[in-house]
Order: sequence, then C-alpha cells, then structure tokens
Amino acid sequence: MSEPTYPAVDPRLVESEQRYRAVIQNASDMIQSVRADGTFEFVNRAWMKTLGFEADEIPRINVWDIVHPDAMDHCQVLFTKTLRGESLSYIRTTFRAKDGTPIPVEGNVTPRWLGSQVVATHGFFRDISERLRAEELERRNAELERERLARYLEKMAALGKLSAGLSHELNNPAAAAQRASDDIAGALRRRERAARALIAAGLGVAQWQALEELLESADEVSRSQGDLDPLALDEQSTGIEDWLEDHRVDNGWDIAPGFVQAGITGERLDDLADRLPPGTLPDAVAWLSEGLSTRELIEIISRSSHRISELVSAVKGYSHMDRATEQVVDIHEGLEGTLLILGHRLRNITVQREYDHALPHIRVFGNTMNQVWTNIIDNAIDAMEEHGILTIRTRRGTNTLLVEIGDNGAGIAPEDLACIFEPFFTTKPQGVGTGLGLDTAWRIVTEEHGGMITVESEPGRTVFRVALPLLDTATTS
Ligand SMILES: Nc1ncnc2c1ncn2[C@@H]1O[C@H](COP(=O)(O)OP(=O)(O)OP(=O)(O)O)[C@@H](O)[C@H]1O
Ligand SMILES: [Mg+2]
Repeated sequence: MSEPTYPAVDPRLVESEQRYRAVIQNASDMIQSVRADGTFEFVNRAWMKTLGFEADEIPRINVWDIVHPDAMDHCQVLFTKTLRGESLSYIRTTFRAKDGTPIPVEGNVTPRWLGSQVVATHGFFRDISERLRAEELERRNAELERERLARYLEKMAALGKLSAGLSHELNNPAAAAQRASDDIAGALRRRERAARALIAAGLGVAQWQALEELLESADEVSRSQGDLDPLALDEQSTGIEDWLEDHRVDNGWDIAPGFVQAGITGERLDDLADRLPPGTLPDAVAWLSEGLSTRELIEIISRSSHRISELVSAVKGYSHMDRATEQVVDIHEGLEGTLLILGHRLRNITVQREYDHALPHIRVFGNTMNQVWTNIIDNAIDAMEEHGILTIRTRRGTNTLLVEIGDNGAGIAPEDLACIFEPFFTTKPQGVGTGLGLDTAWRIVTEEHGGMITVESEPGRTVFRVALPLLDTATTS
C-alpha cells in the first residue's frame, strides 16, 4: 500500500496522526478506507489478516475484489448510497478472501467529505463467521430437539392407540372371566347343597349313575345344539318348563333353557323321575342344572383366558418396536395383528381381505410396519366414521410387495393431498389428531424400509398403497 504524502506540517499534528493510525492499525475490527473509484486508500492489519492479502497487494486491488459474488449487487447499492453521502449502520454482507473463502461480515460505512464532495468511504467491519456458526449450531440443535419431541409424541401416540385398543379388547374377556368365576362359587354351593339332600334321601349307586350319565351326555349334545333355531329352542324350552312345573320343580323358566341346550328332553326326565325315590326330583334337577352351569362357566373362563393370551401374544408381536432387529415376516400376520388390536373400532365395519398368501415373506425392522398399518387403518376408520367397508389387498408389484388399504369414507380434499404426510398436518379437531400418523408411516416405509407410500382419493374411495421392496428375488419367484 502506498503511503500518502503529507505536506510539511506541525510535528504535533504528525504525532497525533501517527497515534490515530496506530489505534486503527491495531483495532481488532476490519477497517478500510475506499476511494470513490473503488481503490483502497487505507486498510488495517485485521483487514489484511482476515482477507489474506499482503500490504503490497492492496494498491493492485479494488473494493470489488473483496466482495463475494453473491453480495455484489447489494454492495454496489450500498457503495453508491455512501458516495451520495449516506451513513450506513448495521450492514450485513459477505466479503471474499483472497483464496475465495466467503467471509460474512457486519459493520457500518460512513462517507468522508472534502468540501461538498464525498471523496472516500470509511468502513468498519467484523468477521461474524464464528457467530453464524454458533447460531447455525443452535438452530440445528433446536431442530433436533423438535424432531426428538415429534418422535416422542409419535411414540406416545402409538402407545396411546395400542393401549386404547388393547384395553377395549381385553375388557370383554376379562370381564366375562371375572363374572364367570364369581358365579361359579354360587353354582358349586347350590350343587353341593342338592347333593347333600340327595344323599340324605338315600340315593343309591344306580340312581347317581343315571344322574351322572345325563350330565355327561350333555357335553356332546350342547355342542351340536349350538346352531339350533331360536324358535325351536323356545318351543322345547316351554315344553321342559311345563314338565318341571307338573313335577313341582320351582324356577322352571330358569332351568329349562339350559336343559334344552344340553339335550335333556321330557322323555329323559320321565325316565329319571321313574328311577328316583319320591320327592327327590327337585334336588336332582337342581344338582343337574347347577352341574350344567358349572360346566358352562368353566367353558367361559377357558375361552376368555384363551382370548386374553391370544391378545397378549398379538401385542407382543405388535409392539416389538426395537428397530435394530431385522426379521423376515409374513406381511399378513402384521395386518391381522393390527386388525385384532383395532378390533374395538371395527365392530361396524366390514373388512374385506384380498390376500395373496403366495407372496414371499419380507424383511422388516422390528415390527415397525405394524405402526404403518395401524396409522393407515386408523385414519380409514376415522374417515368412515366407524361405519363402512375396509378393503385390504396384498399383491405383487414389479419387484415389490404391495399392500393396498382402501376405505369408502369421505375422501381427502384435493388441496390437502399434498400435505397429509407432513408432520402435524391434521384436519381433525384438536385433541383428536396430532397429525403424526402419516408422517410416521411415511418415514418407516421410505426411510427405514426403502419402500414407497402413495395415495389416491376421491369422495367415497381412498386407497393408500404401500410398496415394499422384494430384495431377494431368487427366493421370491
Ligand atoms: N383414509 C383417509 N380418508 C380421508 N382423509 C384421510 C385419510 N387418511 C388420512 N387422511 C387425512 O390426512 C390427515 C393426516 O393424517 P395423519 O394420520 O397424519 O394425522 P391425523 O390422523 O390427523 O392424526 P393422528 O394420526 O396423529 O392421530 C388427517 O387429518 C386426514 O385429514
Ligand atoms: Mg391418523
């Protein structure tokens, strides 16, 4: 940089000039003085250090050499404004170092006047790369935090759906088992009381045998009577009720239906009455009837607990969310498990399955695909307001396995179609939808399984199509 020449002046002025120069030279901000033609009149050390120029290079460059191409237009406007006499504060722009590195800066520029003319601009700038990096880091952290929160909410939503579904499904068998076990104690007590009375009346071995046989034969009969037409059942029941009344047995209305179910006819009762000592018939009937009830209650408890363990194992498979475990599964099992979990919402919905059971098994991570089925089916149920036809179709595409889930609900508004996979997009009232269902499904299908998820919708017909890659074509053909 060529040193300006100074006329001979008062040494005190020279001393003062040198003092200010030293201050400027040693400042940590970048300081520049630019002539109206763009050449540099003066730059300080911080300026040269930041932009990577040596002092002897300064006379050969001009201000446009240190402006980043992206900031050129902006800087030209600012330069012109300053030359017209404006002072500019809080400028943010980008310089370019000698090696091309962009240097974001912040600062201010003032004009220097000579009489009524601006002869140079003085600029003070600070390199803000570090600050921007810190800001960017902060922004990224905030984004990660938001993402983490979204994943957490999504997990909670999945868990919420699962537990809502499950508690509904478990409630029926659990309540049935509990009712049956409460009732069984009473039935056993009444049966024992009848047995004691029969023993006291001196019932012989053959007579006990006749009673036992009647009870034993009931088991097979009750199974085959299962689909007896209700009208015939009613008629037979009235017949037995009359028989019991004729033989002075109380509560015939209560006992008769059980006898009919068990295949105990009027003739068999006649036969029994002939074999029993006089007056023991009411106790014998009570013993029989309570015996039948006990068996039925045991059957209820067994069916219910079977159902409970079926649900528990479905949940075990369903909620296996450990994404790290890769497994090869039959896609239909996941679909059926999901339908089981959502059973409480499907009561008034006809599920039409069009499964291609010949489809190969597929590789999935954990059982995350169940979350996909749940979210899509859950939406379909919402769209149908819990009444309608849900179609689930599986078939083979080109190197893919396709699962199509359709509903005959209201459909998706054309303007919403582009947004439904976005996180937090929902058309449902606050507190009903979080808008995370399809975002989750999208991520699991595309990012985690390399598949595709598409949708077609018109009023009365919406189909979500999930395509999963069939990787191992050798075993799939
Ligand atoms: N089968 C469908 N029929 C009609 N609209 C649908 C269907 N599936 C999704 N949508 C629309 O897409 C939106 C986004 O669905 P998404 O599952 O992501 O969120 P949500 O169901 O609103 O809430 P969340 O699933 O988190 O409880 C829904 O609000 C709904 O407007
Ligand atoms: Mg949803």
